[in-house]
Amino acid sequence: MASIAIIGTGYVGLTTGACFSHLGHDVVCADIDEPKIARLQNGEIPIVEKGLDRLVDEGLRSGKLRFVVGAAEASKDAEFHYLCVPTPQGEDGAADLSYLEAAASEIAGVLPNDSVVVNKSTVPVGSTRVVARVLGRSDVAVVSNPEFLREGTAVADFLNPDRVVIGSRDQEAAIRVAALYSRVAAPIMVTDPVSAETIKYASNAFLASKLSFVNAIATLCEAVGADVNDVVLGMGYDSRIGREFLRPGPGWGGSCFPKDTKALARIAEDAGYDFSFLNEVLLVNEQQFDRTAAKIVDSVDAAAGQGHVAALGLTFKAGTDDLRDSPSIEVLKRVTAAGVKVRAYDPAVLVDDNHVGRIYPDLDIEIVGDPYTAAEGAASLAILTEWDEFTWLDFDKLAEIMGGRNIVDARNLLDDTIPRRRGFKYRGIGR
Ligand code: UGA
Repeated sequence: MASIAIIGTGYVGLTTGACFSHLGHDVVCADIDEPKIARLQNGEIPIVEKGLDRLVDEGLRSGKLRFVVGAAEASKDAEFHYLCVPTPQGEDGAADLSYLEAAASEIAGVLPNDSVVVNKSTVPVGSTRVVARVLGRSDVAVVSNPEFLREGTAVADFLNPDRVVIGSRDQEAAIRVAALYSRVAAPIMVTDPVSAETIKYASNAFLASKLSFVNAIATLCEAVGADVNDVVLGMGYDSRIGREFLRPGPGWGGSCFPKDTKALARIAEDAGYDFSFLNEVLLVNEQQFDRTAAKIVDSVDAAAGQGHVAALGLTFKAGTDDLRDSPSIEVLKRVTAAGVKVRAYDPAVLVDDNHVGRIYPDLDIEIVGDPYTAAEGAASLAILTEWDEFTWLDFDKLAEIMGGRNIVDARNLLDDTIPRRRGFKYRGIGR
């Protein structure tokens, strides 16, 4: 079993570290955030990620997982060094590599001979070269091993991946990295670093394109009177299309798709190719936010403008507490800009949590602790995140407490016959 240092304990780093220790490796995770490391040493997980607490607990008990402050402290005795630091979007749309470069320069002097540095962060094409240059160590191989983890199911995705991609010009280093996954049943693909980095961006941008396409089809369905749920079901039977990632919604978001789609457009531009297709994909997504917000505002108007909107769901999807680039928030920004008041509930967002305000200081909404408090006196109810608990809403109770009987189901989550039977006017997406 190998010794692995993980630099950065965000959802990618923490999941990678906990899963590698579960697979039997000796793992040390490092971060610059001291209070976060102290909490992790006590087994406290800072994010909502299914199954992660159990793996961290298991690793801490067996001694196979440790948490330390500082990258150099973690790297000094390890054979593999996974860089899992953020690569936020810079001002010009390109990814900001300053965290990556800082981490590489911090570990450069302490790396044991012949160790392997692995880029796990989503980094622009060509970044393995950047890391190799910063390290300045001819005995150390730099390998790309992009992650394909979804927030909320990251542990399951790590342990049962569709594929493991390794990008390296050094065959021996590639084989050593591949051996870390020997207990994972998945195809392992070895390619050059630039191709590995491109696979990551191309995969995310393709999935984002698929969603923009589906959302555009949903709009078409509304125009021609088709039901998008049936349309995507019929499309999904075709194995070339596949059933997944065909759910229309209020627009797509999260910390990866918007950033990576923009970054890929920028990478192409820098390489002399105008990838205007991706600009359309992004534009369709903005239009979807606009259209969803307009539906909500119209539903309030239908209730003679009396009352607020009860917004259910703030996170960018269900199963996570992540609010970054959330489609719900994008939609609510537009709704509040139209002068409509919003009272929101999300099962992963605490009422007194100032997190929302920190990320979105201009968003003027009230947050409450349950869906019925949000709905009291509301002109309209809008479902913006597909949390399972919203499927079980009591529509008799909602009919009693709401001021208007309007529902905008931006995730097509509900069986529309139920609210309609209680006298609600139901508006879905593309149906
Ligand atoms: C995404 C990719 O799915 C992962 O493979 C990748 O590793 C990750 O980005 C990353 O680059 O780190 P994630 O951001 O967790 O994962 O979110 P997704 O589950 O892909 O959802 C993205 C957005 O699309 C969400 O707003 C979600 O609600 C929306 N979505 C997804 C739909 O509207 N419809 C669907 O059918 C699926």
